Order: sequence, then C-alpha cells, then structure tokens
Amino acid sequence: MKKTKVVITRGIFPEVVQQLQARFDVVHNDDDRPWTAEELAARLAGASGAMATVMDRFDEPLLAKCPDLKVISNIAVGYNNIDIAACTKRGIRVTNTPGVLDDTTADLTWSILMAAARRIAEADAYVRRGDWKIAFGVQYFLGQDIHHATLGIIGMGRIGQAVARRARGFDMRVLYNNRSRLDGSTEKQLNAAWVERDVLLAQSDFVVVMAPYSAATHHLIGAAEIAKMKPTAILVNSARGGVVDDAALVQALKEKRIAGAGLDVFEGEPKLHPGYATLPNVVLTPHIGSASRATRIVMCNTAAANMTAVLEGRDPQNPVN
Ligand code: DGY
Repeated sequence: MKKTKVVITRGIFPEVVQQLQARFDVVHNDDDRPWTAEELAARLAGASGAMATVMDRFDEPLLAKCPDLKVISNIAVGYNNIDIAACTKRGIRVTNTPGVLDDTTADLTWSILMAAARRIAEADAYVRRGDWKIAFGVQYFLGQDIHHATLGIIGMGRIGQAVARRARGFDMRVLYNNRSRLDGSTEKQLNAAWVERDVLLAQSDFVVVMAPYSAATHHLIGAAEIAKMKPTAILVNSARGGVVDDAALVQALKEKRIAGAGLDVFEGEPKLHPGYATLPNVVLTPHIGSASRATRIVMCNTAAANMTAVLEGRDPQNPVN
C-alpha cells in the first residue's frame, strides 16, 4: 500500500525521522537549507502532513497550492508563521508544542538577562581581544545587581511563570502584567504581583517580555514604553521579534536611556537591525530559547506525534485550531 506523504521542512533528529519513515513516505530537508516559498510548495505537492518551524510561512497563497494538506505540525509553541483562519477554512489542522519548552526557554531568558546585567559578552570579548592587561580594577565592567532587584514580566503564561519561579533564588520582587490575572494561590506561589503595565515599566530593574506575537502585540514595547523605564533598567525579549520595536530600542540604547538589553528574537530575523551589532550594552543570541538538545528532541517527538495523530484520524494532543 502506498504510504501517506509527509514533509519535514528543516533538518531534525535522525531518530525522529526514522520513526516517521516506518509509517509515512517522508521528505526530509536534511541539508537544513531553508526552502523558499516556491520550494516549500513544490515539496508539499501530494503531501498530507507537514512538520514545520517558525521560519516556514503557511499563508493563503501557499495553502492554495497544497490541496492535499491535512495537518501542519509546528515544532514550536508559537505559530505566528501560520495563517490559522485560512487553515481552519480549508480544514487543515494546526498543532504546536506547548509545555515542553517552558523551563528551557526560561533558562535562556535568565542567561541573557544575567549576561546583560553583568556585561558578560562585553567582558568575554575584552579578554579574547587581549585587552586585559591589568589583573584587577575596582571599576572594571561594573554592572547591575540582580539579587533583591525588581523583575517585571509582561506576559505571564507558562514561560513567564517559569521565569518568575527562578527569581525566588535571587530574592527579587516580581511584578507582572498580563491580560488576565493569575489566581491568588498561583500569585502567592510565584510571589508575583499584578500591576498596570506602566507601573511595571516604571518600577522594574529588569523588564522581561514574554508575550506571543500577534497584531495586538506588535510593538508592544516601543519608544513610549521604553521612555517609561528606569535609566538603569534592562529589557529582555526571548518571546518573538516584533513584540519589541527594534528601531526604538536601538535608539534608546544608543542614547543610554536604558542600561542594556538581552535579546534572543528580532524583527525580520535573521536580519538584524544594523544598530545592534555595534552596541556594547546589548547581548544578542540567535533565537535559541528552546535550544537544549533534550528539549529540541522532545519538541520534535511531540510534533511528530501530533502530526501522526491527525493523519491516523485521532485527536492530536496539542491542537491550535
Ligand atoms: C517556539 O517554540 O515558538 C520557539 O520560538 C522556537 O521556534
């Protein structure tokens, strides 16, 4: 019997591919060169399933070229690369991988927060360049204290809460802003207080953005919001590019209106706003929030299981539509 065709749009772990090959006719992008929209449409001809990444745009023009497609299984918790309404209209199921990457992404968020606060990237470059000539200086690389500071989290979903939990070890005051308030016992557990966004911006030493990208969160943090932050504050974004206005942030960092930033995601990535690369007070990482080996394997297995479930007529564990 002819196997159902599925497409894996990027290079993933061989063991996950092998498991899928037992059931499906698998087209795997194992050289991991991102496909253009035309190449993606060509690979998807006759395919019922796609395992995709946030880089693959599934919009109406692409979907129109894929009449056999039944499921798009994103290897990600975010799905702003997919036109969900268009998929629903066409009867295409969309799935994602929530829950399995919260701690790993929270770890990375803390890594860039701490790196920005203590100027780790700058100091590392200084040592490597051979500029470290005098062993110790009382005023070398002075940074910000993290312990006992105020952490403000905008977007208090699962990952935001994992970020808040880690603040306990630093004896921090935790503020958050979210469309809906957490219940009292979760707030108590996290030691986090809901405040208006402007209060959070004005009082926080570290502002962590943890909101998904949508039309409603586009440039949620722009020039006006940055202007409300303390001059000593650090902004951290490991959620999605476009939630922060990169041009406004570059300008603010240049003018030292805030002290620094830790950024894992960017508008139009992998293109970088040209201002960032020359700024010493910003730590830049290439969208690696969930990039631990263990978590990426679980994400791939979860996405494979979601796709398989739909193609075998079962309910997927993580439906988006
Ligand atoms: C996610 O899961 O949404 C991460 O950004 C990886 O794409």
